[in-house]
This record gives sequence, structure tokens and C-alpha cells, in this order.
Amino acid sequence: MKHLIDPMDLTQQELDDILTLAGDIVRNPEKYNSVCKNKKIATLFYEPSTRTRLSFESAMIELGGNVIGFSSAQDSSVSKGESVEDTVRVVGCFADIIAMRHPNEGAPKLASMYAEVPIINAGDGGHNHPTQTLTDLLTIVEEKGKLDDMTIGLCGDLKFGRTVHSLIKAMSRYKNIKFVLISPPELKVPEYIIEEVIKPAGQEYVEVTSLEDSIGELDILYMTRVQRERFFNEADYIRLKDTYILDTKKMRLAKDDMIILHPLPRVNEISPSVDKDPRALYFKQVRYGKYVRMALIMKLLGLEVE
Ligand code: CP
Repeated sequence: MKHLIDPMDLTQQELDDILTLAGDIVRNPEKYNSVCKNKKIATLFYEPSTRTRLSFESAMIELGGNVIGFSSAQDSSVSKGESVEDTVRVVGCFADIIAMRHPNEGAPKLASMYAEVPIINAGDGGHNHPTQTLTDLLTIVEEKGKLDDMTIGLCGDLKFGRTVHSLIKAMSRYKNIKFVLISPPELKVPEYIIEEVIKPAGQEYVEVTSLEDSIGELDILYMTRVQRERFFNEADYIRLKDTYILDTKKMRLAKDDMIILHPLPRVNEISPSVDKDPRALYFKQVRYGKYVRMALIMKLLGLEVE
């Protein structure tokens, strides 16, 4: 049985297979509308979510399956003190696969050690968010036609932004990637990402503070929100939250074919005036998230269509 806890749990071949299958689902969704008949996904969300939970649920529904779960730990026996281990042992009696989001780093990993069904990490603290990464990769390959030979700028909260950590891990496996890491000094990417991911992969990287100075060289700009919920100190959050605001003036400095991605939710870091720009793909990216989760569910359940 396979779980997805970290983007590196997937081999390159498995990742490519998921992206290929997701691309086919994008173009032929009707082919897949009963592949999960009689299957259920449980979405166990101990932390708030709009996209991830609803895209898992709509993915399973569009595959012909059903959905159970909770959107807040308060609505479950977690509020009575039930552990993650016991919760997944119980939910595994009802569901064929579980997507779990948890504020504690490592909680989905712990769940995978006790569950009798596949566990998907739907975000654990500031650590990883592998299905957002699948979403990001599908968006890039569908919109740019390739994943190699890219200069990708990651901008904002690179310290707490789990989607950034997962995306760097995944993109490091492709050829000739340059990471432009744009953040204030307080929100730099964790050292282990540089030392254990980027450097061993032999990829180029720079750490900078100015978005204006670097936007012109980017093929992809990945904007992120400053993660208020992970700050210990509200004053620091207020000081840093508006460090980067992408607006139409800055977009004039960007390449004509640069794409803007954002895992969302956005707070203030992309001006709504940018939404009309054809390079702004963050809402299209949400739709790709549903298709790639359909592909992931099929792969983890070992399902195929004729
Ligand atoms: N991108 C993302 O994880 O969004 P949600 O927090 O709404 O699920």
C-alpha cells in the first residue's frame, strides 16, 4: 500500500504517470466518471481549508465515488481527545482512502503507520503539501509544455510556506532549474531546503529581497501569502505581511510568457488588478488541482479505465 506524505514519496516515473493521467482526465473527463463507483474518500481536516478539501471531495465525486469526513476537529471525537492513530484506524473501517490536513508536522506520517488504507497528506503544519505540488506541476506542464529548463521565482513567506518547500523538492528533480528565492531575511527558505534539496540536486539558486529586480528573468512567479497562523508574534506578522505586492506596474517588468501561480488563499500579495492579465493563472491552477487529485486517487487505489 502506498501513501503520499512527502512529494519525494513518488518516484519520477510515478510522478510522470500521475501528470500524464491527469492530462488525459483534463481532456476526457467523461471516461473516468465511474472508475471509483462504490469507493469512498474520507477528508479529515484538523485545519481550515477551502481548495484542498473541496477539490478532493469533488475529485472523488467526479470519479463516481462518495465522500465522508470532517472539516474541523471540533466536529469529531478529536474534541474528546481521540488520537490521530485511533482516528485513522476507525475511519479506515469506513473509507477506502483518507486525505488528512493537520497543524502538526508529521501527523499524516504518523497516521500512515496505523492506517489500513492509503493516507494522503493534505498539508502538515509548515512542512509539506504534496498535492498542492502536484497541482503546481500539472499547471506548469499544461501551460508551459515542459518542466525542465525553468527559472522559477518563489516570493513571500518561504520559511513557513509548506507549498514552497514541496515545490522546490519536486522541481529539483527536473533538468536545469534555477530557483530565485525572494523573501525578507526573516522569511528565508529553511536551511535544510538549500543544503539537503537544492544543492544535492545541483540546481542553481539565488536568495534576494527585491521582486522588482528579479521578475524580468522569471519563467514562473510563484507568489505566496505570509502565513499569519504560523507566527509567534502578531507584530512581526504585521510588519512583514505586505512586503511584496504584485501589481500591474511590476508585471510590466515581466516576460510576456511568464506565468503567475499562487497556491491561494491570497490576502494582499497580488493586487486584484493583476487578475485580468492572461499570465495570471492562479484560478485556473485551482481547476488543475481537482484533475490531478482525481489521478492521484486512481493511482493510490490501483484503479484504471479500459
Ligand atoms: N492551497 C491550499 O492549500 O488552499 P486551502 O488552504 O484553501 O486548502
